Amino acid sequence: MENTISFGINGKRYDIHKPGDITLLKYLRDYQGLLGAKNGCNQGHCGTCTVIVDGKAKRACLIKLSKLDGANIETIEGLSKDGKLHPIQDAFVKEGAVQCGFCTPGMVMAAKALLDANLNPSDEEIKEALKFNICRCTGYAAIIRAVKKAAAVIYGSLKESLKTEITKTGIGESPVKKDAFAKVTGRPIFADDIYFKDMLHGKLLLSAYPFAKVNSIDAAGAFKQPGVVKVLTAMDIPGRNGFGLLNPHQPVFAQDVVRYMGDPVALILAETEEQAETALKYIKVDYEPLQGVFSPEEGMKSDAPLIHKDGNVMKHVKVRRGDVDRAFARADIIIEGTYTTPMVEHAYLEPESAVAWVEEDGTVVVMTASQGSYAFREMISSALDIAEEKVRVIYTPAGGAFGGKEEPTVQIHCALGAVYTGRPVKMTLTRQESLIMSTKRHWEKMYYRHGATRDGRVIAVEAKIIADAGAYESLSQPVVFRSAVVGAGPYDIPNVKIDSYGVYTNNPPGGAFRGFGSTQVAFGAEQQMDKIARCLDMDPFEIRKINGLKEGRATITGQVLKKDCAYLKTLEEVEKALARCKESLPKPGPGKRIGIGIASSYKNVGLGAGKRDRAGASIEIDSKGTVYLKVGATDMGQGSDTVLTQMASEVTGIPYEEFTVISNDTAQTIDGGVTTASRQTYISGHAVAGAARELRKIISDLLIDTVGLRERDYEFSNDGVILKKKGKFNANVENNFITYKGLYAMAAENKVNLKAEYIYTAPTTYSLRERADHQAKVPLEKYNIHFAYCFNTQAAIVEVDEKTGEVKVLKIIAAQDLGRAIHPQNCHCQLEGAIVMGIGYGLSEEFKLVDGKMVTDNLAKLKLPKSIHVPEMETILVEEESDGPFGAKGMGEVPINSTAPAIISAIYDATGVRVENLPASKEKILEGLKNINWGHSS
Ligand code: FES
Repeated sequence: MENTISFGINGKRYDIHKPGDITLLKYLRDYQGLLGAKNGCNQGHCGTCTVIVDGKAKRACLIKLSKLDGANIETIEGLSKDGKLHPIQDAFVKEGAVQCGFCTPGMVMAAKALLDANLNPSDEEIKEALKFNICRCTGYAAIIRAVKKAAAVIYGSLKESLKTEITKTGIGESPVKKDAFAKVTGRPIFADDIYFKDMLHGKLLLSAYPFAKVNSIDAAGAFKQPGVVKVLTAMDIPGRNGFGLLNPHQPVFAQDVVRYMGDPVALILAETEEQAETALKYIKVDYEPLQGVFSPEEGMKSDAPLIHKDGNVMKHVKVRRGDVDRAFARADIIIEGTYTTPMVEHAYLEPESAVAWVEEDGTVVVMTASQGSYAFREMISSALDIAEEKVRVIYTPAGGAFGGKEEPTVQIHCALGAVYTGRPVKMTLTRQESLIMSTKRHWEKMYYRHGATRDGRVIAVEAKIIADAGAYESLSQPVVFRSAVVGAGPYDIPNVKIDSYGVYTNNPPGGAFRGFGSTQVAFGAEQQMDKIARCLDMDPFEIRKINGLKEGRATITGQVLKKDCAYLKTLEEVEKALARCKESLPKPGPGKRIGIGIASSYKNVGLGAGKRDRAGASIEIDSKGTVYLKVGATDMGQGSDTVLTQMASEVTGIPYEEFTVISNDTAQTIDGGVTTASRQTYISGHAVAGAARELRKIISDLLIDTVGLRERDYEFSNDGVILKKKGKFNANVENNFITYKGLYAMAAENKVNLKAEYIYTAPTTYSLRERADHQAKVPLEKYNIHFAYCFNTQAAIVEVDEKTGEVKVLKIIAAQDLGRAIHPQNCHCQLEGAIVMGIGYGLSEEFKLVDGKMVTDNLAKLKLPKSIHVPEMETILVEEESDGPFGAKGMGEVPINSTAPAIISAIYDATGVRVENLPASKEKILEGLKNINWGHSS
């Protein structure tokens, strides 16, 4: 038939009459329900939609369906057979190559296309084959290891069982992650994978100006467009027209004024996404543009336009210790420097998405990937003006977050749409919308002045730090605080004067981002340490050892550290590892120079600064015999579901694989607070351990009462409880075995609830004191602004091309202080992921704006690191037990901090060029090289 095409998908034939203009991705997802191919950008920049077409890896968003006549298409759904994973999937699971999982199906398919053609690929060939697939979580290293392993298995050179077995699951072992199977098989687990038959689609009209008065909004034209069901604006919000974790002043819909180009002005709800998109053009908004503020320094000027009525400086944090003027007067050397770090996009691969509907009893349900369902519930209920109990927020796995999903984007609008229309509503941002709406890592400018004595003791630091807070507060206050309190690096410096400012501008709001204000200052402070060491002709490890924090030494805020501070060990480990690899360093090629740089950093675990920090957890066995672990933490790829299950299993004795985890569902889980500040392993971990102890006691009491057996007389297995000796008669016991279902029945007969809850509150912390000098009448604990810190040191080895300024990172060695590693494989993989993110921060990434208008409007322009940029990485876990559960602290954030400063110092070591404004693009290095004379003509 004319205009009919035929193709195969996973071996099944399809005939399509008039295929139209749709892409293969749309066809797979919306028409076939094959949801393994993800939509991360719809522009061919992320690779999450990769499938195989006629043996080649192809990005499905770039292919028109009409071009596929006669093609054979393979998707992730066709890979595993009879519940058995393909060797590539199996290897991804075993190597810990799956974190958030959003890139995973595309990555697996790209790997399959490679291995179908080449079963013995080199590392370089693997990197080349995966270069169109971005992974923001893993740093690619585990993925590359997985592809190599899969190749060896398929090729037959590795006689390893293909079956993924869970063998060791205890604390300090690395069981298969709880969510790995779902993610590696491309199961529809993300919010955008949820479909309802009568679902409406919502699209936001965003501001056309960075700063403008809004005189009127006329939506009449949009109402008349095909498929449009409803148009909503600020007038339609029944409750509070504002959200924000700390200050709910960011408008759900802009009303009289827009303050950045991500401000929503109106929402269209239509039968299809395309109809909603088309109708946006018919909303008329009368704007009156205002003079904007586009840098925090402009914003601090006395005559700057006011973005909010209380002034543009939204926060000023001071750290004061000792007497800096006297200390500088006796310093042998004084080193000054001014540094800037760029605004950076999180670039999680899953764009923000939510699905909402209203239950028969009036409960508004929102399914979305948030970093804190309870916080979202409060913001949604306030906007809708209904009781919090009438809103249920259910966490869907986040396809990456890194802090960027702490604030809502579409969730309140989606709930509002469902309430107004009575129909389910889905809203998913396009990549471009996501880029302009979402929060960013703060741009910061840092002026530093350090004073040191000839023997390497840093005796004074003075700093002025200015951060671009953007248009709304979001989490800028604690970010600016963090930049101040860790602003001098992990050193005990007796005389300190730091001023840290957050300033409103008409740029996107600065928010939480892995490192949370400690990343920017790690760059400035560590460049200063490198300069001091060079000025004194001192070894970079030595100067850090002289000044480094350790047990009994105080931070610049006066907090005396405990035994769990293992900073010096991170230095020692990196020093040893570097000495080992120095012997085998490659000789630089012609026109190339090799350099080595060292950097350290630290960061808090938990909220601190006097804030109540708590989390709850519960464990229960239900009537069907299912063992549930319910936690408030969100697993956005960092592995909290897994480590918390390891803890629950360790304490209860119930096998790891028996647990079903439910996380962050406000109807089912106790509030765990926002997943931020590297806090969940510590805080939710304590809560889980507490709940596990209680459940163990409940079961123990039950079995003594019912069958008369003590703990030593029974053990838990995968299906139930094995009684090791005969007990009293009980109808639920069969062949010395009680199933979990039977256990529930026994408990019910005895009016015992097989459920334990526990709420853990973290050790008390205190606000930052006006002065950090210890005063006689002030107990030392009052200086504890945090209950724990974690430390990191890295060495970078780089090669710089003298002619082009191009930098190749050859190797990163990283040592991480983390208390105890609950799941070591995951810890290593977190380190690798953070390092590669740090390479991007140091060398290429920047979210650029000109006068508030986005320049980097797609993923490609952000210059995220790809597989081909991955260096050799050696990661070292430094385990010094802490007060955390099983001795663990947190570790997800701090490893990103040391990478960029180590690389920049290594570039200086290689060339004599010090880049003080990140990212260190080849153009900046080349500019610096013009002033360097090496005494040869190369
Ligand atoms: Fe690759 Fe998250 S696991 S993007």
